Amino acid sequence: ANARLIFDPRRPVGAVNRRVFGSFIEHLGRAVYDGLHEPGHPTADADGFREDVKDLVRELGVSAIRYPGGNFVSGFRWEDSVGPKEERPKRLDLAWHSTETNEVGLHEFASWLDDVGSELMLAVNLGTRGTLEAIDLLEYSNVAAGSALADRRVANGRTSPFGVKMWCLGNEMDGPWQLGHRSADDYGKLAAQTAKGMRMLDPSLELVVCGSSGRGMATFGEWERVVLNHAYDDVDYISCHAYYAEKDGDLGSFLASAIDMDTFIDDVVTTIDHVKAVKRSDHVVNISFDEWNVWDIARYETVDKIEGIDNWPVAPRLLEDAYTVADAVVVGNLLISLLRRADRVTSASLAQLVNVIAPIMTEPGGIAWKQTTFFPFAVTSALATGESVPTRVDCDTYETKEFGDAPLVDAVTTVDEELGRASVFVVNRSQTESVRLAIPLGEFGTVSEATAQTLSDDDPYAVNTLENPERVGLATNESIRIEDGEVVIDLPPISWTAISLT
Ligand code: AHR
Repeated sequence: ANARLIFDPRRPVGAVNRRVFGSFIEHLGRAVYDGLHEPGHPTADADGFREDVKDLVRELGVSAIRYPGGNFVSGFRWEDSVGPKEERPKRLDLAWHSTETNEVGLHEFASWLDDVGSELMLAVNLGTRGTLEAIDLLEYSNVAAGSALADRRVANGRTSPFGVKMWCLGNEMDGPWQLGHRSADDYGKLAAQTAKGMRMLDPSLELVVCGSSGRGMATFGEWERVVLNHAYDDVDYISCHAYYAEKDGDLGSFLASAIDMDTFIDDVVTTIDHVKAVKRSDHVVNISFDEWNVWDIARYETVDKIEGIDNWPVAPRLLEDAYTVADAVVVGNLLISLLRRADRVTSASLAQLVNVIAPIMTEPGGIAWKQTTFFPFAVTSALATGESVPTRVDCDTYETKEFGDAPLVDAVTTVDEELGRASVFVVNRSQTESVRLAIPLGEFGTVSEATAQTLSDDDPYAVNTLENPERVGLATNESIRIEDGEVVIDLPPISWTAISLT
């Protein structure tokens, strides 16, 4: 098949915010313990953090990291996680039916972030705690000295404040599974009151109010409207969460998952702007897509889930999905969707980072390796700079059960004027056909170098494992060429490609 991609550098959609390349570390499974932290590991630093994992996190190119949950945060007492380690309590984590040792807490995680060069994005517990505890954590984190909680932080070994800018007002408060789940009305009031209180202490904060934990929630849309009706002028972002998986062998629909994300974003933007209009507000609220990924939730529910009053393991293997080539193509496509709306999606977090539905896996005492999903994230994070620009693809469609006719090819382009670079991120969703893509250079002008990297495989279900950690990787796409003022490239079936034009 043939396809044509037209991009228009003259009318940018919006600047690509680095925060879109955020991720998420929750106290869940082996994300923290036996993941980024393993004191006995041969590469462990003085604080017990694995250097090999830090190297991979840096290579992934992750901006802000959301912490410490997730569902975990709704039962979390932040005070447990600071102070002398030997005095920190072991707690039952009801969300994941595990024991939280609190061996790694706020201080240790913040130091780890300094090491990997990422920013802290903190979530407060609005499930089982309230405004006062949120303000307490803020005082502990952001006030230099001279108040009880700031002085406690100093006494605990951290002189300079953590200076946390991004704060999530709870997590998935629309979800009936959430500890402290409440109605949109109740949550909206609590979020607005907490936001006001936090800003009285530190007006420079950027606050994220909980939107829906999925577009499929029965309350979707109305939840956003009601919550924003209470909190619109008090917050900067509303969150979106979305997880995708292949269901009942329907690979075609799965490969088109980004269509759902596009619709989700458009619907939330519409709702935000509706509330803005009703309120006659000048304030702009954007989207923090702070949980997104491929995740086989059904496997968690049926295989992983831990139960039993006497069964609360420490760092059990939970949500350790092994990602396929097809999963990586979908992850690459979801990044395309996020970048396409760079005007309104100004923060996002790949959920999650290490071991738990993660691009990075670790073996205790052994290696750390890259899952297939590592590659599209790392390359997009490195190449998507400057501005996202309108990108149209003329191509064939294919029929899907979930979305009707879906385009075979989906793409986005970013243009970095300073570097004189255009980057095109593109997927071929066809399961059988290679696509020859032509990109007229038009307004972008002439290009002296065109390079491309592609992720594809004869087996769309190939994965990287402990035994075979480099089974899947990126390859240079040698087919790229410039012909009569057009860039031409062949995209193999079920593939993700990044093109760099300079
Ligand atoms: O990322 C795993 C879980 O998914 C998070 O804890 C929760 O917020 C969401 O339901």
